[in-house]
Amino acid sequence: MLDVKNLKVTFNDEHPAEAVKGINLHMEDGETLGLVGESGSGKTVTAMTIAGLLEDDCVSIDGEVIFEGRDLLKCSCNEMRLLQGKDIGVIFQEPMTSLDPLMRIGRQIEETVRLHFKTKPDQRRSMALEVMRLVGLPDPDGTYKKYPHQLSGGQRQRAMIAAAFINHPKLLILDEPTTALDVTVQAQIIDVLKRLNEKCGVSLLFISHDLRVVRRVCKKVAVMYHGEIVEYGNTDEVFTNPQHEYTKRLVAAVTARSSAHV
Ligand SMILES: Nc1ncnc2c1ncn2[C@@H]1O[C@H](COP(=O)(O)OP(=O)(O)O)[C@@H](O)[C@H]1O
Ligand SMILES: [Mg+2]
Repeated sequence: MLDVKNLKVTFNDEHPAEAVKGINLHMEDGETLGLVGESGSGKTVTAMTIAGLLEDDCVSIDGEVIFEGRDLLKCSCNEMRLLQGKDIGVIFQEPMTSLDPLMRIGRQIEETVRLHFKTKPDQRRSMALEVMRLVGLPDPDGTYKKYPHQLSGGQRQRAMIAAAFINHPKLLILDEPTTALDVTVQAQIIDVLKRLNEKCGVSLLFISHDLRVVRRVCKKVAVMYHGEIVEYGNTDEVFTNPQHEYTKRLVAAVTARSSAHV
């Protein structure tokens, strides 16, 4: 479904820097792939490139991003816009994809339906209510009319997932979707994502600096370090038998923290 081949991303600032240095990723239908690595390792740049959201005036991109047989790097802005929100859903922490404080929740969840399909308001509303139920938002009818500030942090994140998922995309790209949440809410959001994957078959490209979170969501994991993928395999195998020095440190840090909690 997704094949990233030798992807290179270079920012052409005063000091040109290669943020992503020729990485390869492969995802099958319905697969859950985690992208893990320390801050600055190139996870967000990778995700933004795949989603076609990187502003391309000061950046050079090389390689291929094959999604369902098409190279997204060769698609026009218009073609990308037709895919975004319909075939590929994205959840980023950046303000551009977060909720508008002045718009009611229901309307925001419906937004991509309005963009992609000719529909009547009541059709959109019932689609919104259905996806709100799917992500476990309480009292969908009431929540539909609320504004973001009237929701808890966890409910807002559910609303973002609902908005990204309303058109049942094949792929969800999630960049640190639980990082800002406390541990209990984090666990609930992870359950929602697992449910969408298991019940609806959506593939997840799940980005996190936290190996423990990735382990709970993803069957496979790619470890990024300084713009490269240094380790790639089944999450359990990588976790129990890390090969690369950086992965070993990552696993050791997680294990040390969890045993300190016991
Ligand atoms: N717009 C930009 N201009 C220049 N450099 C950038 C830009 N965005 C990201 N970078 C650089 O690319 C590298 C990878 O960043 P990023 O993908 O955000 O890391 P991560 O998400 O893994 O924390 C970093 O060195 C960062 O400074
Ligand atoms: Mg990031």
